[in-house]
Amino acid sequence: MRSSITRREIFNSAHRLFKPELTDEENMALFGKCAYPNYHGHNYELHVTLMGHIDPYTGFVYNIAELKKIIREEVIEPFDHKNLNLDTSDFALLNPTVENICVVIYDKIRSRIATNYDLKIRLYETIRNYSDYPT
Ligand code: NI
Repeated sequence: MRSSITRREIFNSAHRLFKPELTDEENMALFGKCAYPNYHGHNYELHVTLMGHIDPYTGFVYNIAELKKIIREEVIEPFDHKNLNLDTSDFALLNPTVENICVVIYDKIRSRIATNYDLKIRLYETIRNYSDYPT
């Protein structure tokens, strides 16, 4: 029987969306308030969903304590209370949009999960804006 299990986590990070080749005015026109030069923070809400078969012995699709540990090591420790542009190698050259952060988190967690599970990432940047990967 196939089912899913989702772990929800929160992390707080600063970022700035900009292209270095553009002026501050051009970046503001393209990225709005997320281009303010001195950075700003978001309260990110992360949903990590694993899909697979329910183990008939444990009743688990996946051990949630193990999933929690993987998310903590791959996402919370490197990103929480960090400046994504300045403090992480992932976004040194990649704009930390909610779409890009979602893909980066997918790749990090995918590398820790056996291939017989499907993985979906949903990341809320605000209560109104979120991204899903894969779509
Ligand atoms: Ni922003």
